[in-house]
Amino acid sequence: MGVTLMRPIDELVKVDAGMVSRALFADEEIFRAEIDRIFSKAWLFVGHESLVPNPDDYFVSRMGTDSVILTRDRQGKIQVLLNSCAHRGMALCRYDHGNNRTFTCPYHGWSFSTDGNLVERPGELVGVPGFATHYMSELDKKQWGLKSVAQIYNYKGAIWATWDKDAAPFLDYIGDMTYYLDSALDHRDGREGESEVIGGVQKWRIPCNWKFAPENFIGDKHHDISHRSVDLVGIGPSGGKGRRDFTENRVCVAFPNLGHGSIGRLPHTEEMAYSSQFQNHPVVEQYYREVYEARVKRLGDSKRVSPHAVGTIFPNMSFHAHQPRTLAVFHPISATEMEMWRMYLIDKDAPEEVKEAARHYYLRYSGPGGLTESDDMENWSGATEACKGAASQQLYFNYQMGIGHSKPATGLRDAVYNDYSEENARGFYRRWAQFMNGLSWDELNPREVPIEAAL
Ligand code: FES
Ligand code: FE
Repeated sequence: MGVTLMRPIDELVKVDAGMVSRALFADEEIFRAEIDRIFSKAWLFVGHESLVPNPDDYFVSRMGTDSVILTRDRQGKIQVLLNSCAHRGMALCRYDHGNNRTFTCPYHGWSFSTDGNLVERPGELVGVPGFATHYMSELDKKQWGLKSVAQIYNYKGAIWATWDKDAAPFLDYIGDMTYYLDSALDHRDGREGESEVIGGVQKWRIPCNWKFAPENFIGDKHHDISHRSVDLVGIGPSGGKGRRDFTENRVCVAFPNLGHGSIGRLPHTEEMAYSSQFQNHPVVEQYYREVYEARVKRLGDSKRVSPHAVGTIFPNMSFHAHQPRTLAVFHPISATEMEMWRMYLIDKDAPEEVKEAARHYYLRYSGPGGLTESDDMENWSGATEACKGAASQQLYFNYQMGIGHSKPATGLRDAVYNDYSEENARGFYRRWAQFMNGLSWDELNPREVPIEAAL
């Protein structure tokens, strides 16, 4: 049963005019429609494979407003299941992570398995107390397994899933945005993947609409004023210089028809000269210099992955590829609240001293106690609060920067760029409107995607 909205989507989001209604940031009816039309359909980031390194490991994640179990079965395959018992709904996993051979419900004791030697499909019901005596062996166990996602994709260790069996293949959904996502997921020496999450996952709630965060990280290059105090303190990874030590030559790159975007460098073959990052830590400094040299040697003249990007994959995942190197996800709770998670990445085989230095830097910089995140949270929650009023709800936000001035981003499919632009955010809301208008996957991800819309 879908939600019927009072106002048409095209009135709420006027992408070509650069206007988005404030109702998107405080209206509960629109929020319910988002859960229904976006989060039940789009590819969502669920976690990183390093969170479940061994068979039977599990990590409790979220997809939209649903709790899900990310687990590795006994055959080593990643599975994603709804964390709700098929009998009467109780949560199967009540800890954030652990190791379970079977998932047994604490309410009436039904148990479910992902072991391919025992079951035909992951999450099948394998044990029911009183099966013979109370149910007279008549319960059809095959019909009452845990709900499983329709598709899963492991992209360089990042796990993505969708509830929609008809969803476009993940690589079509993300397009050439992989170029920027790679910069977060790949080893600093240029090897694909080979990264892991360190220090657990930070989770905290913010009284703001969930869209403020992905919109911020998709291409908002012009909110430096928010971080003036951090710049003055000089909390860059170099220990002494400002936080933007490595941000020169970055532009706003938008994938306007896919809804993704990045602040990053355009594809290039020449590596920028190495600049010292950790002068206060000789071992760490030596490590980063070595992996830099290894990357230049390994990738040669091929199109390089610039390790200095920030970006968003529609709808609710963002990443930071330069220090602090993190994956972030913004779970919708209500129209005016979200739960933010940050996972911190490091090269899997980096020396312990390097991992420890990075962990400390990540904590100083990001997260609820980090110096930078608190600036952004203040903006997002203040703006959400201001959207609640009746007069405010009639107004629109302005996204008009750079309309008609984007240039084709040579070397990337379906991408445009500019030094400063809100094209990235306009692309995000164009995509939002497409999902909210209920477009089919043939319309959402046509084989040939034209970029004229944004030029
Ligand atoms: Fe899980 Fe009854 S709710 S066994
Ligand atoms: Fe910021």
